Amino acid sequence: MDHAELTVRDAAPPRQLSLDEYWMPFTPNRDFKSDPKMVVRAEGMYYWNDRGGKVIDAASGLFCVNCGHGRKEIAEAVQRQLTELDFIAPFLRGHAGSFELARRVAELTPGDLNRIFFANSGSESVDTAMKVALAYHHARGQSGRTMFVSRERAYHGVNFGGVSLSGMVNNRRKFGPTLPGIVHMRHTQLKENAFTRGEPAHGAELAEDLQRFVALYGAENIAACFVEPIAGSTGCLVPPKGYLKRLREICDQHGILLVFDEVICGFGRTGKPFGAQSFGVTPDIMTMAKGLTNGAQPMGAVAISERIHDTIVAAAQEGAIEFFHGYTYSGHPAACAAGLATLDIYRKEGLFERAAELAPYFLDGIWSLKDLSAVADLRGYGMLAAIDVHPSGAPGARGHLLQKKLFDNGLHLKTTGDCALVAPPLVAERSHIDAIVDCLRNTLAGV
Ligand SMILES: Cc1ncc(COP(=O)(O)O)c(C=O)c1O
Repeated sequence: MDHAELTVRDAAPPRQLSLDEYWMPFTPNRDFKSDPKMVVRAEGMYYWNDRGGKVIDAASGLFCVNCGHGRKEIAEAVQRQLTELDFIAPFLRGHAGSFELARRVAELTPGDLNRIFFANSGSESVDTAMKVALAYHHARGQSGRTMFVSRERAYHGVNFGGVSLSGMVNNRRKFGPTLPGIVHMRHTQLKENAFTRGEPAHGAELAEDLQRFVALYGAENIAACFVEPIAGSTGCLVPPKGYLKRLREICDQHGILLVFDEVICGFGRTGKPFGAQSFGVTPDIMTMAKGLTNGAQPMGAVAISERIHDTIVAAAQEGAIEFFHGYTYSGHPAACAAGLATLDIYRKEGLFERAAELAPYFLDGIWSLKDLSAVADLRGYGMLAAIDVHPSGAPGARGHLLQKKLFDNGLHLKTTGDCALVAPPLVAERSHIDAIVDCLRNTLAGV
């Protein structure tokens, strides 16, 4: 690969930056390094690029920055925490922040999902949830339940547990057989639901795939069924009406745990704290990350029902470690401080309610793009929407070009293949939505 460097002009005098050493994640590195898209600052709804250009954030960074950028409350809380107590081993030692944040998260979760385990990312949260499910069945004498049911086109992060659950082929295809005993239901994107806004009318019957796996493998071998309430990274697949409720029924009937991966849906994206509340279905375990700290600190969490937690704890001898799992940075003081400050902002500014109020305006804007010739399909729920473009050339090429042109035209979002995901911060004003839709319209006309 050729040497690449960039003159960075964010401060005087300009400096030379070598682009060779940093291997960027989920990025075509050669393409990026030949045409870098650099960001130097962020505030509110905007980024600024290295040429001084203002870029509206139509993706909340990467579905994280729900409260908008540069929130001083969060920065100050993190700084205070690092000066007071920078680190404490989370094994055998405690600090108030992790207990307080766990309580505050439990106030937002549905049902009795009141036991909170901290991780550092969505991927770690997913792997943690898989281990909780296995430990639970083991504790209740059903250690044969080791299989997991996931779904085609699912995204559950990049660690080996999550990749094994994953149903996006490029995330799996070069990494061998992955974990055994994982099967995938069909995805829920159906042609007859094209251009549906909100929950599609068709497809609840796809939940019966879980029933078929029960018939094929035996419920006594299945630990849990993992789904994103809205499949996010693959392109905002909103669950068909009745689909999640049916999964819940089948799980209940067969003693299978239902796990919702709320890494994108959580913290107001759907207009409620979690997708679970928006769709009226309570899982047994929920994973979350991203919006938990507004993206200001890496953090993930798993919310576990009291029943599951108590069963695992009761099965261990008094005085013994009940769950042999945890990370050096589980419940890191700085991440907890960021989480608490973020949850304060959600509450004070009523951001979940605001998202619910703004969503119809946002979706009206997205649906105003329906008749553009490049647009192949639209999907959306709450403050999350997807625009599929007709492919041109290799699969994903047009989507990638769109994402680059949008950035050059002053808009940041994430594309996945030929699909653009739009997820503005929940603090957006109507004028920001208008600006996002205008930029999308103009740019879509030219790709
Ligand atoms: C549903 C879901 N699960 C897990 C993850 C992985 O999270 P992370 O990138 O923080 O590991 C993501 C990331 O987008 C996600 O959307």
